[in-house]
Amino acid sequence: MALRRTWNDRVYPHLLDRVCGTDAISVERRRCIAKATGHVLEVGVGSGLNLPLFDPRSVEDVVGVDPSEPLLARAADRNHEVPVELRTAVAESLPFDAGRFDTVIFTYTLCSVDDPAKALREARRVLRTGGRLLFVEHGRSPDPTVARWQRRLTPLWRAVSGNCHLDRDVKHEIEAAGLTIEELGGYQSHHRPGWLSHAYVGVANND
Ligand SMILES: C[S@@+](CC[C@H](N)C(=O)[O-])C[C@H]1O[C@@H](n2cnc3c(N)ncnc32)[C@H](O)[C@@H]1O
Repeated sequence: MALRRTWNDRVYPHLLDRVCGTDAISVERRRCIAKATGHVLEVGVGSGLNLPLFDPRSVEDVVGVDPSEPLLARAADRNHEVPVELRTAVAESLPFDAGRFDTVIFTYTLCSVDDPAKALREARRVLRTGGRLLFVEHGRSPDPTVARWQRRLTPLWRAVSGNCHLDRDVKHEIEAAGLTIEELGGYQSHHRPGWLSHAYVGVANND
């Protein structure tokens, strides 16, 4: 128990910063965050790696939610050019009125939530009509052999990586929540092992 707490509160936040802050990932972050407009919600804001990237010419303010106090403490230390509010909350139960946001952002978060279907339904609820979900998420590989390995490895991987699932079908989850995918790309990172390298990058609309 004490070991798990030490891992989750001290070791994992530090590792997350290193792993999620690599140059290759930063390129995708920049492209994604450049599309944000208006009132923005970032779900699973983590250590706040996206916060310095928001452009005050297009973004009015950002609310970042995350269940992890140690990660929120790191996020509070980031520089940013737009007003930022950080709140302790989970994606599956967002403490906001319907239609409050113009943009909702998920970067490397859907893998870690307990219930991705519920999290995306909540994202849709808090988006205004015509608002957009921006996402960069790793997930299930289109290669069936890799996908099989992802399914086998997930129980072990989750235990050491803050509940991160390797095999979530991001496109299917977004569409099942009733959002319309406008743009869908992806990338295959050569800096990560195959079972962690397939990413879904795109924009979905709450039309
Ligand atoms: C891999 S990290 C990514 C952090 C950040 N989005 C980024 O791009 O650096 C996954 C994040 O999801 C958060 N998380 C886990 N379960 C969550 C939930 N149910 N609701 C919201 N965030 C959650 C974790 O605390 C962590 O900050």
